[in-house]
Amino acid sequence: MEKDQYILGIETSCDETAVAIIKNGREIVANVVASQIESHKRFGGVVPEIASRHHVEQLTIVLEEAMSQAKLEFKDIDGIAVTEGPGLVGALLIGVNAAKALSFAHQIPLVPVHHIAGHIYANRLVTEMKFPLLSLVVSGGHTELVYMKEHGHFEVIGETRDDAAGEAYDKVARTLNMPYPGGPHIDRLAQVGEPSINLPRAWLEEGSYDFSFSGLKSAVINTVHNAEQRGETIKPEDLAASFQESVIDVLVTKTLKATEEYKVNQVLLAGGVAANKGLRNRLEEAFGESNVELVIPPLSLCTDNAAMIAAAGSIFFEKGQRAGLNLNANPGLDITIHNQ
Ligand code: KG4
Ligand code: ZN
Repeated sequence: MEKDQYILGIETSCDETAVAIIKNGREIVANVVASQIESHKRFGGVVPEIASRHHVEQLTIVLEEAMSQAKLEFKDIDGIAVTEGPGLVGALLIGVNAAKALSFAHQIPLVPVHHIAGHIYANRLVTEMKFPLLSLVVSGGHTELVYMKEHGHFEVIGETRDDAAGEAYDKVARTLNMPYPGGPHIDRLAQVGEPSINLPRAWLEEGSYDFSFSGLKSAVINTVHNAEQRGETIKPEDLAASFQESVIDVLVTKTLKATEEYKVNQVLLAGGVAANKGLRNRLEEAFGESNVELVIPPLSLCTDNAAMIAAAGSIFFEKGQRAGLNLNANPGLDITIHNQ
């Protein structure tokens, strides 16, 4: 019988300090996440310096908790997977340095992971991946359509040219005086509103799978300001529903089009905005009758976590991808570094 493979994952790219251990690429044996949302809330967004400080304070505690949940020792761990980038450089550095220290102290291979590859691989913790596939990655920092012909091979066929979808949600929520992160609040409001306000949809050039959300965000802000100046009231729930309708319309239409063009077997949803009820419902409607399998991970695996980093790391480990102790955080890392 082959020995089980255990990969320990570390994620510190933004405002979650996370450590997880995955068995044989697909089974979660420990998954610990310490969120900093409460500390950033009063500033209306993530403050990089505060994020780094929290990671330093939390990482050892989170690591010890994960090891104790898994009931494993470091001699059992085959690889240490860590988010190399993209993300906040100071935040990434804490995870990268912790991973290097563990790798050096216990002589365990170090496996660098691209954060978005992690988000996509959260899906492998739910079901087997069937290639070729397409992943719609929608988070606070990214909006991308990624095509995969096989494990560990990524082709970005479309990405946002300005704001990420989650970022647009957070900014619109701030305009409506809602706390950070605003996505869930807008989503909740949108369920009870009518999409009665006309807002733009950025389709971009014919055939492009790129996205743009900054024009939509500005249109929402202008709508609010114009109404204030005229002394009119706009129902926030209608504005939320109209904004959400515009975002979902573009995301779902482009995903469907790419699904047909690339003849994929599966569509994987990834990233924090995958929590959005409207988006989930619309995708389920769109793929309900089709031969393409739609996979939507549970919320805990859609937002930042280390299980996804370990799941991706397991594939890269098998492919022999390693980093030395000179590994550095890389906030501008390209996902295609994994295509070897
Ligand atoms: O993937 P994630 O946890 O962090 C990044 O890597 O960016 O995504 C966080 C983003 C935030 O912008 C948050 O507002 C958004 O996901 N989000 C949502 C919902 N839940 C979280 N956006 C829309 N609807 C939701 N229900
Ligand atoms: Zn993320």
